[in-house]
Amino acid sequence: TPERAARVRSLIRDVPDYPAEGILFRDITPLLADPAGLADVVDGFAAAVVGLGEIDLVAGMEARGFLFGAPLATKLGVGFVPLRKAGKLPPPVERVEYDLEYGSASIELRTGTLQEGARVLLVDDVLATGGTAAAAATLVRRSGGVVAGLAFLLELAALHGRERLDGHEVTTLLRVGPAQG
Ligand code: PRP
Ligand code: MG
Repeated sequence: TPERAARVRSLIRDVPDYPAEGILFRDITPLLADPAGLADVVDGFAAAVVGLGEIDLVAGMEARGFLFGAPLATKLGVGFVPLRKAGKLPPPVERVEYDLEYGSASIELRTGTLQEGARVLLVDDVLATGGTAAAAATLVRRSGGVVAGLAFLLELAALHGRERLDGHEVTTLLRVGPAQG
């Protein structure tokens, strides 16, 4: 609902020039600390993914994707898979490298985690350039899974991340453009 979206938006703090000059950081910690706000986000995700068909697992991108992915998984009655940054999981792992809005990284999933054909919902807080999400989608497919869809709390439309996820179902609870900030 628009009321829910407005309440969630009001709990995300915009921090200019962090972690580097020219970056407008979206701080979700006030939202996480607010019981109604946190519930709004998890409920919003659950409502947004109803049309995606069967979901066997929720996967979250380290780190902030864990914060919403795990509670969403319990709400959907499915398990949760962490897609971890390099070096956090014991071998053997699949790894996909990607560029970030600031810096670069790689994301890993333990080989054999997904059953062949498992339908996976990917969850993260922010869709910016789409680099993280595109890498996560590649990782799921390479690991034998099927990407049922991707769900984000906040889409930064000016960075066109959605275009890098072409061919996937993408749903975002909030969307900000250059004008709306
Ligand atoms: C942030 C954010 C998204 C990603 C979005 O994560 O949580 O995962 O960047 O950017 P992109 O669409 O350009 O890839 P980050 O890796 O900064 O750190 P985190 O561990 O705090 O989630
Ligand atoms: Mg992240």
